[in-house]
Amino acid sequence: MVPATAEALTDRLYERVRDVIPEAEWVIHAPLVARIHELKKERNAVILAHNYQTPEIFHGVADIVGDSLALAREGARVEADVIVLAGVHFMAETAKILSPEKTVLIPDLRAGCSLADSITGADIRELRKRYPGVPVVTYVNTSADVKAESDICCTSSNAVEVVESLGVDRVICLPDQYLAKWVATQTDVDIIWWDGACEVHERFTGEEIRRYRENFPGAVILAHPECPPDVLEEADYVGSTAGMTNWVRERQPKQVVMITECSMSDNLAAENPEVDFVRPCNLCPHMKRITLERIVHALETMQYPVEVAPDVAARARVAVERMLAVGRGSGG
Ligand code: 13P
Ligand code: SF4
Repeated sequence: MVPATAEALTDRLYERVRDVIPEAEWVIHAPLVARIHELKKERNAVILAHNYQTPEIFHGVADIVGDSLALAREGARVEADVIVLAGVHFMAETAKILSPEKTVLIPDLRAGCSLADSITGADIRELRKRYPGVPVVTYVNTSADVKAESDICCTSSNAVEVVESLGVDRVICLPDQYLAKWVATQTDVDIIWWDGACEVHERFTGEEIRRYRENFPGAVILAHPECPPDVLEEADYVGSTAGMTNWVRERQPKQVVMITECSMSDNLAAENPEVDFVRPCNLCPHMKRITLERIVHALETMQYPVEVAPDVAARARVAVERMLAVGRGSGG
């Protein structure tokens, strides 16, 4: 049973998502949403949610939403005692690296990432031996240990800008081979890549995109740069989740195909009612570990705090802050 003031809040929030969440489902979400709002006040907590979170989290309880770059930037600025990261573990680590004095909670410790798992700090040390003097640009989808071994971080929003900011003719760009290969098409800098991949985006194929083109001839196709090159060749626009969000918001296409994780289309559909979304659905099992129930549990029990060893955090912070300095002013 939701108390009257909380009911007014959840009714208002439902207006944002009524196109993407059936009323019968919202009845289940509403008490959890109300409880999370109460707990956020009690704990002086903010919730940072990635664009791949489900609509009840994204539109219902998050204070800050965005792509990896926005979450890193905004997470560093928030004034709160507690940050709950509705996303995956590397995002929570990045928040902790930038805000060591805050308690950063990840609601489910199993929320990992295939890219973060594809490389270790020791791998980078080996690469440095193989390519002496070549700077290492590391995607934020990596562990703190890996960031600590890197010269600078990047996200899919700013990868090209970061690579070019170094003023060299060759860089190592890791761990996502597809992001690295896409960056190579956008710059004259020679790119050495690692063979990591996102288990969600690597499943899309060029053949599949051509089928969308045939079946939805007027639709615009937007794709994330973690997709393989034959997919990106077929796309009308390639960009980070923030880039895709802005593209849809600003241009209001009649019909759009989003080649990325499932929840992106739902979250965007809720706020762009005039746009028809074709929804190929590759789900990220790690992002989907985070649920309203897990967030309630996190705030009630203060589980699970993310810790990064101070020496690792200090070195990783240099790489993340160098990235933030390059990206200042741009946003995907
Ligand atoms: P961005 O939101 O930075 O584009 O990253 C996508 C992603 O896969 C995050 O896990
Ligand atoms: Fe990692 Fe891909 Fe999931 Fe993002 S979508 S968290 S890159 S596995």
